[in-house]
Formats: sequence, C-alpha cells, structure tokens
Amino acid sequence: MIRSVVRGFGAALPKRVMTNRELEDIVETSDEWIVQRTGIRQRYVAGEGETTASLGADAARAALENAGMSASSIDLIICATSTPDNTFPATAVDIQNRLGIHHGFAFDMQAVCSGFVYAMATADLYIRGGMAKRVLVIGAETFSRILDWKDRTTCVLFGDGAGALVLEAEEGNGTNADRGVLTAQLRSDGVHKEKLYVDGGPSTTGTVGHLRMEGREVFKHAVGMITDVIEAAFEAGGATADDIDWMVPHQANRRIIDASAKKLGIPAEKVVVTVDLHGNTSAASIPLALATAAGDGRIKKGDLVLLEAMGGGFTWGAVLVRW
Ligand code: UT7
Repeated sequence: MIRSVVRGFGAALPKRVMTNRELEDIVETSDEWIVQRTGIRQRYVAGEGETTASLGADAARAALENAGMSASSIDLIICATSTPDNTFPATAVDIQNRLGIHHGFAFDMQAVCSGFVYAMATADLYIRGGMAKRVLVIGAETFSRILDWKDRTTCVLFGDGAGALVLEAEEGNGTNADRGVLTAQLRSDGVHKEKLYVDGGPSTTGTVGHLRMEGREVFKHAVGMITDVIEAAFEAGGATADDIDWMVPHQANRRIIDASAKKLGIPAEKVVVTVDLHGNTSAASIPLALATAAGDGRIKKGDLVLLEAMGGGFTWGAVLVRW
C-alpha cells in the first residue's frame, strides 16, 4: 500500500512582531484580557513585500532544504489559504513559479482554518492514487489584511505566517505501524456560514471584505465538533488517545485546545501549543506548529501525530500521521 510520508518541514514568519500591548493603542483591549481569553501573547504581521505567496514560498524552500530535496523533484503543490495574493490565479501557482518549478501542477485549497487538514487529505489521495510522488503541502496566510482593525472582538486574534511539509510516496505494509498519513476525516456544514465569514468577495460586493465572527457561537460548537471528528479518525486509523505521541491542533484559542485534549484524555504534555507566539494564523497554524515541534526535536520519526482543525464554513477535520 502506498503511504504519504513526511520528508521535510519548514516555516516562514513576517519580520514584524505585534504584541498585545501594541494592540492596546489601537482598540479598547488589554494584554490581560487577550491572554486570559485566548492564550495569545503576540502575533506576526506582514509588512511591505511580504504576501501569502512570498511567505508560502519561503516556508516551502525551508521544507525542501529540511528534506534535502530540490524544487525540481516536486510534482504537486497544494496551498491552503483564505488570503490569496489575488482572486486568481491560485497562490500555489505563484509559489510554483517562485520556486522555479515549471512542470507538474499546483492549486489552492479553501477551507479556512481547516485548510491544512483538507490539503493533507487531498495530497494523500493524489499520492495514493498515483498522480503525484512528491508533494509540497503549504498553509500560508496574511489575515492581517482582511481584519477590521477597529473591531476588538476579531483583530486581536489573528496573525500572519506560513508552514509547509514535503510528502513523498513510500510503500507501506497497510498497518498503522506504517509511516505516513494513516487516515484523514473531513467534515463541513454550511448552515454555520454566518458565524465566521468575510463580508466581501468577487461575486457579491466586488471587494475583498473584512473578517466577521460571532466568537462565542464558534466557541460553543468547536470542542464537540473537534472531538467527534478525532474519534472518527481514531476508529478509522485503529488508534486510541493513549497511542498518540503528539496532538498538533489548529491554534485558535488555548481554551479550545485544552478543553478538546482534556475531553479526549490526551495529557497536556503531549499537546503542541504555539498560539501564544503566532496567534491564529488560520491554515498556516498547524504546519507552523509542526515545524516548531519537529524543529526543536519534540516530534521524532515514528511518532504518531494527531492533527485537527475547525473553522469557517464550518469546516473541520482530523488527520493521523506517523512521522
Ligand atoms: O480559527 C477559527 C475558529 N475560531 C475560533 O475558534 C474562535 C472561537 N472563539 C473564541 O476563541 C472566543 O469566543 C473569543 C476569544 C473570540 C472571545 O472569548 P469569549 O470568552 O467567548 O468572550 P465573549 O465574546 O463572550 O466576550 C466577553 C466580553 C464581552 O463584553 P461583555 O459583553 O461581557 O460586556 C466583549 O465585549 O469581552 C469583551 N471583549 C473584549 N474585551 C477586551 C471582546 N473582545 C475584547 C477584547 N478586549 N479584545
């Protein structure tokens, strides 16, 4: 059985760090409120010349270097993003060009904060279906550019950045001792559209629009949706919470992460948390967290890693991957 095995990881962040204290000068908020309600202490904000494509390409280069592979050996690029450089073409195609790749194919994945989980599931299908052998899976965002900086209920939450993995086809035995993606479970339900959306778009207003969120409503659904889809992944992957070496959740809110892990019985020491450093970087948050924890030696070859996310749509999903 063909498996999609992680060969390399990388990350890229804008130069500028914005602390909670700086936000106190922009909106009526406080460092104490933000830390207590979300766990966020700082976020990165893209400056001149820094875009979703530039950050995505930098993360991809870092992942290729980590894998010891050349860009020319990649045959598919999937970029998960809700903040593309342009309405079209896809940011993935721009990244492909920035990497000097002129063969294979590239496309964007739009599932908001669940984008990276959707992209991993999609890459795995292309690899197992034989259409691609080496895939760059990227999550890249510049949410700072769609925030309403007068709305304290949203502008304190999000940040910019990018992360990437290189996946490669490898023959496995078909058991969950194999390295690579073991299962991916995806969900969506558009009935929740109004709870987290952008109030503009090419086909409606002809503008980019700003992010709008009923935070309390999203929070109310988050833990139940996340834990349900993780239970489905455990069942499909033949694993239990005890088997998990690392849980790498979407980084939206420390309270959601803690409550989900607790409900599943996964101890806090096994949960990777970067929301304090990056804020919510939407589709970039999981690969940024993976690059952090693999980079500092926590996630090691052979570890069973659980990825999960929930976001706008609503969309949600979970992936089990043996590193
Ligand atoms: O990544 C996609 C998924 N998104 C999420 O997972 C986000 C889910 N939601 C959340 O993380 C939380 O709901 C928030 C962090 C957005 C808000 O936390 P909360 O505990 O649900 O607070 P709340 O919305 O119930 O607001 C509590 C109070 C309100 O004041 P009143 O009505 O109680 O007087 C807000 O007006 O906090 C006020 N508030 C603020 N105060 C200081 C809201 N934003 C701020 C702020 N600074 N930035």
